[in-house]
Amino acid sequence: MSKPRVLVIPGSLRKGSHSAAVAQGLMHTAGELADLQLLTLEAVPLYNADLDGEHPPAGAAAFKKAIHDSDGVVLISPEYNYGMPGVVKNALDWASRPGFESVLKNKPVLIITSSPGLMGGVRAQAQLRQTLMGTLSRVISVPEIVITQVGNQIEEGRLTNATTLKFMMAGFHTLLAEIAYGRKA
Ligand code: FNR
Repeated sequence: MSKPRVLVIPGSLRKGSHSAAVAQGLMHTAGELADLQLLTLEAVPLYNADLDGEHPPAGAAAFKKAIHDSDGVVLISPEYNYGMPGVVKNALDWASRPGFESVLKNKPVLIITSSPGLMGGVRAQAQLRQTLMGTLSRVISVPEIVITQVGNQIEEGRLTNATTLKFMMAGFHTLLAEIAYGRKA
């Protein structure tokens, strides 16, 4: 069977983003196990229900197609003001429609949050789990990957801390198992 296609989405747009570095660390470590595709959220426009429907704006359509074409998704988010950043919520709002028929329906999703602080974005993680319930995706429940003090774990734009990579890979293997389960069902 072909390698699972996994979409890796960093939830920050800034240059030098820790979330992007976490994505690079994952891709470097998990590259043999899956066909990994990095997708950034720059091109996703602000959600407007007037523009939504069969032919949404190109950036939203491309985002939804990338999810559709994948077997699973890794969402790597920072925490802004005790929740997920607006760019992440905005993208999920596009992906969530049409209601109960989201492109994320039945899609295995692994959530990773990180923060330079000691909480690892755990509140954004909880919020993401709740929002993703609305998409009917299959969110990996255990392990919950939160990465604390992420700034200390990055070298040359990539997360390299061995302990954190091992923790992250436990989540990634669970995602692959969930994808395999879905393929058999
Ligand atoms: C933050 N940051 C932050 N961190 C945290 O742990 N909890 C929080 O509630 C917030 N709130 C917050 C709000 C705003 C508007 C900004 C800009 C930042 C810090 C944040 O985790 C840090 O800037 C990360 O480095 C952002 O992620 P990227 O861009 O490095 O991926």
